[in-house]
Order: sequence, then C-alpha cells, then structure tokens
Amino acid sequence: MATRDRQGNSPSFDEVAAARLSRRAVLKGGVAAAAMLAGSAGLSALGGAAARAAGPSSLGFTELKRIYDKTHHVAEGYKAEVLVRWGDAIAADAPAFDPAAQTVAGQSKQAGYNNDHLAFFPLPLGSASSTSGILAINNEYPNPHIMFPGLVTSEDDAGKALSREQADISLAAIGLTLVEIARKDGTWAMVPGSRYNRRLTGFSEFTLSGPAAGHALLQTSADPSGRKVIGTSTNCAGGQTPWGTVLSCEEWSASFFGGDPEKTAAKDALARIGMENEDALGLARFHDRFNVEKEANEINRFNWVVELDPYDPSAVPMKRTALGRFGHEGSAPVINKDGRVVVYLGDDDYFEYIYRFVSRGKFNPADRAANLRLLDEGTLSVATLKADGTLVWHPLVHGKGPLTAANGFPDQATILIHARQAADKLGATPMDRPEDIDVSPTTGRVYAVMTKNKKRKADKVDAANPRAENKWGHIVELIPPGQGKAVDHAADTFKWDLLLLAGDPSKPEVGAKFHPETTADGWFATPDNITSDHKGRMWIATDGQNAFDLADGIFGMDVEGPGRALPKALFACPFGAEATGPCFTPDGKTLFVSVQHPGENSESIEKLTTSWPDFAEKGLPRPAVVAITKVDGGEIGS
Ligand code: FEO
Ligand code: CA
Ligand code: CA
Repeated sequence: MATRDRQGNSPSFDEVAAARLSRRAVLKGGVAAAAMLAGSAGLSALGGAAARAAGPSSLGFTELKRIYDKTHHVAEGYKAEVLVRWGDAIAADAPAFDPAAQTVAGQSKQAGYNNDHLAFFPLPLGSASSTSGILAINNEYPNPHIMFPGLVTSEDDAGKALSREQADISLAAIGLTLVEIARKDGTWAMVPGSRYNRRLTGFSEFTLSGPAAGHALLQTSADPSGRKVIGTSTNCAGGQTPWGTVLSCEEWSASFFGGDPEKTAAKDALARIGMENEDALGLARFHDRFNVEKEANEINRFNWVVELDPYDPSAVPMKRTALGRFGHEGSAPVINKDGRVVVYLGDDDYFEYIYRFVSRGKFNPADRAANLRLLDEGTLSVATLKADGTLVWHPLVHGKGPLTAANGFPDQATILIHARQAADKLGATPMDRPEDIDVSPTTGRVYAVMTKNKKRKADKVDAANPRAENKWGHIVELIPPGQGKAVDHAADTFKWDLLLLAGDPSKPEVGAKFHPETTADGWFATPDNITSDHKGRMWIATDGQNAFDLADGIFGMDVEGPGRALPKALFACPFGAEATGPCFTPDGKTLFVSVQHPGENSESIEKLTTSWPDFAEKGLPRPAVVAITKVDGGEIGS
C-alpha cells in the first residue's frame, strides 16, 4: 500500500514537500531552489533535468556494488585497513589478546569492544596534522554471546549466563579507548605504549559537573556528594569541540540496570528513561548499585554527555549535566557568530526529541582552560517542528512556562535530570529516533538523522515524520537564520526541511525520496551517524540495513548543488556489523570508520556468521576501526 494511503487524513509527503518547495523557492529563488530540493515526485523531472545538465554528483568515485558477506568491501581505488581491534594492546604492559584468558586487568589495558564514535585529535595540540594524532574511540556495549569461548548462550540470555568475572570483563570492555596513531608510508598504525593511550571503562571515575551536580537525585550510598560516578556506559556517538575535547554520549544506560521498577517510588521516571529490568549483563546480581530496588539514584548518574580532554592523560572525564539527561546519541558543537558555543543533540529513542544547548560564556581561542568550562553553564532547549516549515526552540528553564514546582520540577537540576519529562511539557515534536546530528562546515545548516520508527502509526505521522511504520529513516535539515559567518545558531526560531526519505526508491510502497538519479547500489536505509568533509559533503553510516538482508556501510552524498541527496556507496560492512563513527583527518585524505558488532547476528559462539577481521581458526569476530584511504593518496571522494 502506498505511503500516502496509509496516512489517512494527515498530509501526504507530496503535499508536505510542496509546502516546503514554495517556502524554499522564496528563500532561494526559482529553478535553482527546485533543483536543490530532492523531495517530492512532482519535482523529480525538474531536479533530474537540471542535475543531468550540471553533472549530478561532486563525488568522483565509482560506487561500490551491493555486497553482503563475511568481510568488508570498499570502492575501487580505495583501501580500508584495519587499525584498532577489540583486545589490541593499548598500554605498554598490556597482555596480548587471548580470548581464552580474558581478565578485567588485561581488558582495561586493551582496546575496548564495539567501537562507535571516533574523533581524531591532531598531534601536537594546535596543529592540523593529518599523519599523527590521538584517536578517541567510544566503546558502546559488549556482545557477551560472541566474546567468551566456552560460554554458549544466545544474545538474549547472556545477562543470566555471565559469571561475575565475565560481567566485570564486559564492563571493562566498554567506555572509551584513546590511542595515539601515526601514518607512515601511507599506512596508519597504533603507537603502543604512548602516554596518550588510555582506557575509560565501567570502573573508571567520572565527575558530574554543571547545574545538577550534587543534587539529591544524584546522591547514592557510595557517593553522598552526588558528584563522583563510577563508570560510563553505552557510549554511542559523540562530538568534537573546537577546543580539542571529545564529547562521548551515554545513550541507553538503563539497559544495564536490573530490579523491578514497579517496586520503586521512581517508577514513572524509570519508565521514561527506558528502564525495563533488562539487566543485559546481569550486573544487578553482582553489584547492588545496578539494582534500582537497592540504589534508587545510581541510574540518574548515567545517560549524560561526557567531556574528556584527550591531550591531558590525567584529565578527569566530566559528565556535563547542563546538556541534559536522555538517550544521547550524538552532539554537534559549533561556535556561534557571537562566540557562544552551541551544541546540537539528538535523543535516540522512539518519539524522542531534538535538543540544543547554548553556552552562557564565549569561546576564547586564547584561553583553553576557560573553554573547558563552557559546557557547564547555558540554556538547553528542545525543538518543535511545525508543518509550515518553522522550527521553534523551547528553553528548559525552571520557572518558565509549565516547568514549575507545581508540575513536578522544583529546580533546574530536576529539569535537567528528567529532561524528557520537561520537554514533554513544552510540546516538543516526537521524532523517528533522532540519531546523529551534524553542522555543515560550509553552510551552517544542521542535519538531524532519524534512523527509523516502526512504532509510528498512520494517525501519528506529521510533516517532519511523514511515514507510518517508518522502517527506513529520513534526514531533516534544520536551517538557522543568516548566511555564511552571520548564521545564528542561537536564534529562537529556525526553518526546517526534509533532505531525503530513505529506503529503496524502486518500491513505491516504501515512499523513499532521493535524487532521481540515485542508483540501485546507491540508496540507503536506516541512516545513523553522519559527518561532513571539508567541502560540506555528507558521509552517512547506516545501522539496520541487515533487516533488508543488505550490508550496512558508508555512503557519500552532496547536500547542496545538483547532486543534493544523490548518495554513492563507498564501504560495506561484514555480516552482522553496522558502520559507525565516520571521521576525517583535517586533510580529508583518511576516513576512519568503526565496524561495530561484526557477527552480532550469530546464534551463539558456536555458530558465528563471521570471524572478521582476523578469520583465525576458531577465532572470534573483533569489532575494529578501519582507515579508508585513496590508493593514489588523494582526498576521499575526489
Ligand atoms: Fe547507539 Fe542510537 O545508536
Ligand atoms: Ca548510533
Ligand atoms: Ca542505531
């Protein structure tokens, strides 16, 4: 059935897109605007004709043919070399990787599991080196069912099957991995034992900072100060600040907690943060703090954005409460025209919201120490995307509008800790799972990725989420006022547009909208992480194409000009893996990509779908970072 038919009385995509077009035509003027908008079917002929005349894509490579097998693949003329694998030695005294002899101490000195967000920090600090740097890697979650030889369990039953030691090794395998890397003779390699190499795990100490630090809701029996947290978890995507720190986003920490939420006074708040007594690693059996019946507030100390200075090996990682507590996927910082720092944030869960933080202080290029405190004070807002193409930011400020004690928000800290509930009161637009978010370095436009939402019913579609049972995802363009250096990221209202609707464009029932010249190899579904190259082109990592029996991978795409919304496939992951964390060196000649959870779709360790990348006899799959470069040494996409 066509998407339009399933939407009942709600506006169809074509109607919505037509409304977008008339506004866009006013904004940009005439035919050029029409050609840039990839949206409605009515525009396809015009966009296609204009595009063909100009040569549609700025990307010069021959795209990869669809392929999905045990290993990775990259487009002709490129190479993809494995750089950092789960278990690789990071510390000078780290043991060699031996899956049969894993220990907490050993794992704490080795690269973590399930690499996600990547950020490259040139060495030395302040340089723009593209051959030497620190790679900050998020390690989102463990996959015990394919980590421990001898442990035969399904993914679903792993939490009950793990021994205490295995559960603790799993905690040591998550968090962050920092490793110095260098490129010699065209090939990247780790620098083992570098002073910058570091692991942060489920056992490391983190400091809560900002307006909610120390609040009663953050105090526990082990930490009456409400400021010292042991551990981080589910570090998904993130961001990189202009002052050289990494933002690592805690996304779905509630899954690591056990206990019956119904037996607690906080059951509503626990439900809102997604606590379902999942206890994915069985931690509540061994650590009381992971049992919500025994330690009510421990869970409030997760689901934050962590900021870490990779250049200072002794830096304490900070959980920045000013950025709110929710299912943090990504964070995109940008310096506004007035010097304030704006951070765009997505909350990745069904019907959750897009947020924005605006700092009180201003970025000072000459005072790094002051910049390191910028994310502790400012205003968090949440977005409403109206059908007329206007976006309104609503501040989450105590005493404003409905955010009062009478409505359950006695202070600002409570608003930040329960940011989702505060956003509910402000009429924010429930989105189709907001994953990554990114600011174009060339136009200042902001791109927010909705990965998918199978739960959206036909009577709940809206202009910004126009498909029911959205299995394919879409990308929304947020347009701040102003042009060039005058773009105002702190404005109260923006415009918004739909960049594309993902899925197979050859199937009318999908309702996909790409550039009309998108090929059978080039379209994608379930977009997740994105990054921009220095020309402003978008590089998209997908998570979930496996559901269509297709490999996840990396796609490059123009967002401006005649090739707008015309993707081309660059890289394909092996069985079971998603692509995450795309990240460029400053020269645009290396694209780092995380290949996360290879073989995750294996029934158990006895029936592995792949043992990528080593393919050793009885070997385990190892999540790994790959470095993609052009064989001729040119820029990626040239
Ligand atoms: Fe960890 Fe939303 O992906
Ligand atoms: Ca993600
Ligand atoms: Ca995802």
